[in-house]
Amino acid sequence: MKAAAFEQLKPGELPPPDLHWPEGTGSIPDWVYTDPRIYALEQEKIFQGRTWSYVALEAEIPNGGDFTRSYVGSVPVIVARDEEGAVNVFENRCAHRGTEFCKAHRGNNAQFTCPYHQWTYDLRGNLVGVPFRRGMRKEGGMPPEFKLEDHGARQLRVATRGGVVFASFSRDMEPLEQYLGPEILTDFDATFSGRPLQVLGYYRNMLDANWKLYHENLRDPYHATLLHSYLVTFGLFVAGNKSAMIVDSTGRHGSLATARGEGAPVVAEEDKTEMSAFHDNMKLNDPRVLEYVREFDSPWSGNMITIWPNLVVQRQSNTLGVRHIVPQGPHQLLMIWTMFGYADDTEEMRQHRLRQGNLMGPSGFLGLEDNEVLKQVQDGLRHSQPGNGVVMLDGETEGTTTRIVSEAAIRSMYRQYRASLGL
Ligand code: FES
Ligand code: FE2
Repeated sequence: MKAAAFEQLKPGELPPPDLHWPEGTGSIPDWVYTDPRIYALEQEKIFQGRTWSYVALEAEIPNGGDFTRSYVGSVPVIVARDEEGAVNVFENRCAHRGTEFCKAHRGNNAQFTCPYHQWTYDLRGNLVGVPFRRGMRKEGGMPPEFKLEDHGARQLRVATRGGVVFASFSRDMEPLEQYLGPEILTDFDATFSGRPLQVLGYYRNMLDANWKLYHENLRDPYHATLLHSYLVTFGLFVAGNKSAMIVDSTGRHGSLATARGEGAPVVAEEDKTEMSAFHDNMKLNDPRVLEYVREFDSPWSGNMITIWPNLVVQRQSNTLGVRHIVPQGPHQLLMIWTMFGYADDTEEMRQHRLRQGNLMGPSGFLGLEDNEVLKQVQDGLRHSQPGNGVVMLDGETEGTTTRIVSEAAIRSMYRQYRASLGL
């Protein structure tokens, strides 16, 4: 290849030549979870490419001057509401020397000042102040052509729906509604119906696993009745219930949905024998945690929506939350769990949501097992001889299925993943 042609290649433009995806859709090579070049390509093509990433709930920043720190992929950003009430998202990176200038998780202020040389940014990310810009005693200073407006923090596109804020580095994104597609939108709107939200609390944990394993886990109804003792023993997800694994037309989003009756769940005798995670002798000290009060315009009592590339919307009985996936290199992710209810909840319902919130979080009755097992997956992938994972369950099916013993949604996810990375 001639030198001139080389220069036209942008870094990461081509997939690394030594990596080959095996034939067909039934396998996933280990290197997608471990190779640092793939991780770099994902940041560029997915998180900074044509996607909408979750960044915050509007309920976290109700007033002018409110801000919260967040991430798009691994890039730190600030989500701030300005004096006019608009939500802005900009990079948490000082244009001077790259400092991540805001370190408070959230707060209220009129400006952000970088601690190093005190360059100051407004609530839209515009640079509004540079100390000693004219030098000292009329000597030195910035060159005359230096303009504040050329050195703001990088601003992202913003879209909101039902109180949820998304951002994108891409300048030509389709509308959020189109990005989500009608199937996902239906389930999304059941939780985010326009009823004002109230944040109940946060969990944050580091998980030693590749970020895509979390997406797979929630498109994998196969593991649900085998791994999760709590889920099946107490009837939240059982083989006999009406369930579906819904996938949008592009394959990038998923909605794992299941229906149970109101009140305390009942598990039929014939279902018990099919599910290895069922334990007849497990009892709860406080069975109120299982209660379900029907309140959503949806057939599903349990619904885990995975929105590509970084969001899980979790609705299990009456506990609600969003999980923000923040990749930290190929082998680790930061998970930020924001638990919420509605501002007009009764005190009784608020207590019920808090109690039921014990299902979730890094050590929740349901969260615990996924956290542990995903770490074990990553250990296997990074320390053993490289191989290919097998995703052949439920044949050649892709997309939406009502069978819970299926890996169809994982195959759909990787079909679009390969296309967006050119693999
Ligand atoms: Fe931010 Fe210098 S690095 S002001
Ligand atoms: Fe799980």
